This record gives sequence, C-alpha cells and structure tokens, in this order.
Amino acid sequence: MRLKILIINGPNLNMLGLRETSVYPQAPLERIVGAAAEYKYEMPVKVDHFQSNHEGELIDRIQDARGAYDLLVVNAGALTHYSIALRDALLACETPFAEVHLSNVFAREPFRHVSVMADIAFCVISGAGETAYTLAIIAGINLLKKKFKEKKK
Ligand code: DQA
Repeated sequence: MRLKILIINGPNLNMLGLRETSVYPQAPLERIVGAAAEYKYEMPVKVDHFQSNHEGELIDRIQDARGAYDLLVVNAGALTHYSIALRDALLACETPFAEVHLSNVFAREPFRHVSVMADIAFCVISGAGETAYTLAIIAGINLLKKKFKEKKK
C-alpha cells in the first residue's frame, strides 16, 4: 500500500533561498520538498506538491484533495495566522494534516504565535528548517498506522 501525501505551501514560500536567509533555510523550496518526497520512510509514499501565493487557489487545491489523499502537510505561511477560510477548507477536507513552519514561529513576532489551524492539525512542527516536511510525514505515517490498527480491531 502506498500512502498518498500532499504537501501544500502558501504565500512567499516560493522565495526560499532568496528570502530572509537568516530566518529560513537557504535551499530552494523544490529541493526541500524533493528531499521529503524521496526520503526512505517505513511505508511507500507518493508525495505531490502544490505552492501558491493565492488564498483561493490554496482553498481550491484543499477542496480537490478531499478523499484523494491520506495525509496533508500544510505550510500556509502568513495565512496560518489569520485565514479562517483556509481553516474551513481544511475542516471540510476531513483529511489529517500537519501544520508546518520552517522557522520557529514562537521565537519570532507575537503575531506569528497565533495559528487559526493548529487546534485542528494532528501535529505542529515549527523550527525544524529543511527537515520539517520530512518530520511531518514521519509523524503522519505513525498516526495512520495507529488508525489502521484501530480499524482492524
Ligand atoms: C512560515 C512562518 C510564517 O509566519 C511566515 O509568514 C511564512 C513562513 C515558516 O515556514 O516558518 O511565510 O510559515
């Protein structure tokens, strides 16, 4: 069985490598996501990726993901801190998701300490830099394994 995973990146994450290099990894997004997709997990995975700077496009992609993926890994960028519309899309998607931030948002400005989606995520990873997406997938596989076991009972 191959787990279907969708990594979603929001506004400005396409600027990684150029953007605030003292805060964010210096590698481009494609390389970071590529490493997460190619990592040898304990289960086979198929990882798709979508990045957009537009809230509506992110919502459309999350709506399309309903029933099509086992797991979402979401770095919504600044939208994390205020987009109720994105929260609603994630709720409607009914697919477990990890909230991911490359930087440690809790060591930054107070407005970044607030997330409108953390309480509905199965985990939050913040400050793990380039390894963040890989760690989220490892945690997601663990969660899904537990769910499969419970179903079998
Ligand atoms: C971010 C943190 C957000 O506060 C910020 O707006 C981003 C990136 C991160 O990955 O650390 O764009 O989500």
